[in-house]
Amino acid sequence: MQKKAELYRGKEKTVYFTDDPNLLVLEFRNDTSALDGERIEQFERKGMINNKFNYFIMQQLEQTGIPTQMERLLSDTESLVKKLTMIPVEWVIRNRAAGSLVKRLGIEEGRLLEPPIFDLFLKNDTQHDPMINESYWLC
Ligand SMILES: Nc1ncnc2c1ncn2[C@@H]1O[C@H](COP(=O)(O)OP(=O)(O)OP(=O)(O)O)[C@@H](O)[C@H]1O
Ligand SMILES: [Mg+2]
Repeated sequence: MQKKAELYRGKEKTVYFTDDPNLLVLEFRNDTSALDGERIEQFERKGMINNKFNYFIMQQLEQTGIPTQMERLLSDTESLVKKLTMIPVEWVIRNRAAGSLVKRLGIEEGRLLEPPIFDLFLKNDTQHDPMINESYWLC
């Protein structure tokens, strides 16, 4: 699979066109971001761990009959995926209280969250990823 021009460089991944118009390469970098990209640091091997973890999750979904973007692993830090139309939302699952949740609710950092909390955000850094719920769909 031939990697072609860069399509998008996000805070943690770079997306490339390939010689197949239906497929993209996702490259998972070591960049680690906080505060909507204001702070970026390098964590050695993070790209590899995210790439392999993502592949593992996608495989689990496929095995339960849920189709995913995944085609195959290409290297430690790259995966081949189907080119899809993206819906700009982010789902966050929290097992422990940290970051914005602590500020928002005033609860103790590190508190175990059982069952985990499920948060839904609009993926938009300039708006600081505002929280949304199902009733926002028509906006
Ligand atoms: N399978 C795909 N098909 C089409 N576009 C994709 C696909 N996967 C990712 N993209 C595009 O690449 C962008 C970057 O992916 P992603 O958001 O996962 O990376 P990121 O580095 O975390 O970016 P960000 O800084 O925006 O959070 C997505 O917003 C989307 O536009
Ligand atoms: Mg991101």
